This record gives sequence, structure tokens and C-alpha cells, in this order.
Amino acid sequence: MKKILFAASECVPFIKTGGLADVVGSLPKYFDKNKYDVRVILPKYSCIDEKWADKMEYVDHFYMDLSWRNQYVGILKMEYEGVTFYFVDNEFYFSGPTPYSDVRYDLEKFAFFSRAVLSILPIIDFRPDIIHCHDWQTGLIPVYLHDSFASNEFFRGIKSIMTIHNLKFQGVWDVETIQDIVGLSDYYFTPDKLRDYKDGNYLKGGLVYADVITTVSDTYAEEIKTPFYGEGLDGLMNARSNSLVGIVNGIDYNEYNPAKDELIFKNYDVKTFKKDKVQNKIELQKELGLKEDPDKMMIGMVGRLTDQKGLDLVACVLEEMCQDNVQFVVLGTGEERYENMFRHFDWKYAEDFSANICYSNELSHKIYAACDAFLMPSLFEPCGLSQLMSLRYGTIPIVRETGGLKDTVIPYNEYEDTGTGFSFINYNAHEMMNTVRYAEHIYYDNKKSWNAMVSRAMREDFSWKASAKQYQKLYDNLLK
Ligand code: GLC
Repeated sequence: MKKILFAASECVPFIKTGGLADVVGSLPKYFDKNKYDVRVILPKYSCIDEKWADKMEYVDHFYMDLSWRNQYVGILKMEYEGVTFYFVDNEFYFSGPTPYSDVRYDLEKFAFFSRAVLSILPIIDFRPDIIHCHDWQTGLIPVYLHDSFASNEFFRGIKSIMTIHNLKFQGVWDVETIQDIVGLSDYYFTPDKLRDYKDGNYLKGGLVYADVITTVSDTYAEEIKTPFYGEGLDGLMNARSNSLVGIVNGIDYNEYNPAKDELIFKNYDVKTFKKDKVQNKIELQKELGLKEDPDKMMIGMVGRLTDQKGLDLVACVLEEMCQDNVQFVVLGTGEERYENMFRHFDWKYAEDFSANICYSNELSHKIYAACDAFLMPSLFEPCGLSQLMSLRYGTIPIVRETGGLKDTVIPYNEYEDTGTGFSFINYNAHEMMNTVRYAEHIYYDNKKSWNAMVSRAMREDFSWKASAKQYQKLYDNLLK
């Protein structure tokens, strides 16, 4: 039995701000249980819903040194859907209203978490063969493993994997402050290790010391070796390219299943979508106060409202697109200028534009089920999960060809009747708008071809089945 420990800062259903939580919460369920014992360790934030907190059981506690500080570490445990979860408790670090706040505090919070993850292992008597770290918040784990823990017999030979869900976030601050927080010697703060000019960089540490680096699509694994996508670490990504692999994300096919989904108005599958999917549109139009019209093309956008998602392209041509015979439904929170932009359009085009500036799992399911198309013109996209959810619900993605979007959406070809979505290459607002308008044209003037595309989209398989196998193979190779 191979033992694996996932370490991450968020995980569904306990706490979520983005796609990272979906991956950490769903992937562990899909490993072969006879061969892999995959457990997950997370911070015990006070903002985790009581419903979950009540189910956690206390295991033990101790005090741990972090640089010159000495801090309480509580350990809690919970079994959920066949997976063991551990939670690191410390009210000083984890009691904010959200998992992340000011960077300076987050840096100390996750240095504490990373060190605690390792310190806990002998106490819970779980010696993983591999610690699988996710994003910058856990970047120090491979570094600590190399440093003070290396001399301890218990830790000898434990391997580490660093998965990049988003290279944009690295956990960076000036070297002096970082050194004071993390308590690592000067040895670690040279440019080939944690130093990044005048800064200390957590993710860089993880990428230097992990045995293997993965990211969440093949295309992104290539892109991050270039300056445009490399976020200053393209040199390192090139240097480590032999240890860098892309494994595309899946989604939880039980949770996202139009045939069984209890959150949507009317269930449907690939055989019944022509008749039943539209019921979801009509009901959503009612619920959101849009003009009720089953024939009007509805375009959805769900996600963090940030630059990454290509919203400056949307800003540039949204007024023009609103003149078309379409409805828009937006769900998400993020940068204020985008929140306000969508609120403005909601006010100006009340019958055909619905801006929902909030987080709602339920509404997101309703949108995937109701819409005809889904717009995701990202500037960069390590994997992207919304387009996978859209495909599953027969909602045609309109995407820019970058990262995981490029790897998961097959461009429509009207002459060969192939493809599962629409895509464009350049980061250009009018290129995007032309693509949206081409989709409108197919939707209104060639319904037969559109419906054939919907059934192809619904038949695609982006469950975790294939990707979990790739992770298993990766673990096997690493432990050979
Ligand atoms: C981040 C990326 C997104 C990816 C997700 C899960 O949120 O921005 O592209 O799908 O992580 O890996």
C-alpha cells in the first residue's frame, strides 16, 4: 500500500475560494483504494461551516517552534466519503473570516501550516511515501523536508511533489521578513533556491526542492517555460523540465451530473437534452427576472472576476454584444471594477443581463444547466474547470486557446461537423466577439449542427478516471 498525503490550503466541501478546492476535494476519491492510501491535510479555519467542524474529532496537540516563535498545534480528524482528512488547528492563524487575507499574515500562516504538516506526522503515526503539495501555500514543505527534518529517521526517504494550480501566486516578500518568519538559514536564500532578487519566494522553494513538479494541463506545462506565462520562474521551469509534467484536471462526475443533479430544475441527459435542457433556461429566466424566452441564446460566465479570466476583453465589447439577440448570466466575485461593470449592465439591460455578484454553488449548477453557451476568454488558464462542467451539461464553451482550455475544448468545424466548442487564439476583444457571433450564427441558423455539438460535448469524458491513473503512475515511478 502506497501512502500519499495531500497538503493544501483549501478543499471542497469544507472551504473553497477557487478551482484548487475542487481538485483537492475530488481527486483523492478516485485512487485505487487497494493500492493507494491517500489522505488530506488542511488548516482548520474558523470560517469552515459548523456543520463540518462538529464532525471533526480531536486527536492530539503539542507546541512547535517556528523561527523564534513557539505555537500551539492542534490535530483534528474526520472521515468523509472514504477519505481521511486531518485539520491543523491554531486560532491565532486560522480564525479570520476568510482563508486568505493580507499577504504578510498569509505568509506566516502558511509557513506555520507547512511546518506543522511535517511535525504532525510522527504523532498521528502516518508516514507518507509521498507528500503531494498544492500551490505556494505548501511550497515550504519540500524545503523543510530537506532542512531540519532530514536528520530525523522517520522522515528519511519521503518524496515530495509540487503541483502548480496557478503560477501567478507565489508567496513573496522581502528576504529579511521571510527569513524571520520561516526560520531557514542563509543557505536557502541564494538565487538558485528561495531568493528571487530581493525577495524570498515560497513557491520557488517548493519548485526547487520537490522531486517532481506537476501542473494541471499539458499546454500550461509548456507555456510556463516561456516568459509570458512563466511569471518570472520560466528559467527555473526550463531547468526542471525533466521533472515537470502536465496532468489535466477532471471534475467530480457524481456531483456534476445533469441526469441526477438535485440543484437544477429539470434533469436531462444526452438523449433528452433537446426537450428538457431548455426547461432549465425558462426557470432560470424566471428566477433571475430575465425576459422569458426559450429561444433566446443564453451565455453564462462563472468564476473569479479577475484579470486572469479575460474580463478586460469582455469589458471592451460587452456593450456591443448586448445589442445582439442574447442574454448574459454572470456569477462570481472579484475585482471591484469588474463587479461594478457587471452590475451596470444588469441595470442597463435588466431583461437580458443578470449579474450575481456572490458565491453560490447552487446557482452555478443552475447556470451550467440553463445556458446554451459559456464564455471563458482567459488570458491564461492552468486548467480551468468551468469549461469541463459546461461540457458535461451540454453548454457549449467559447474559450481562448490557452492552457487547459486549449487541451479540453475541441474547436467546432462546421464542414466536418466536429468539435465541442468555439475558440480563438489571440488575446483580442474583437477576435473574441467575432467568435461569440459565429456561435450565435450556428445557434440560430444551424440548430441541427449545434445540437450535434451539444451531444458530442456531453459525451466527452472529463471525469477523474483517466487523470487519477496518471497520478498513480507518477507515484509508482517516483517510488520505484
Ligand atoms: C486554479 C487555476 C485553474 C485550475 C484550478 C485547479 O484556480 O486558475 O485554471 O483549473 O486552479 O487546478
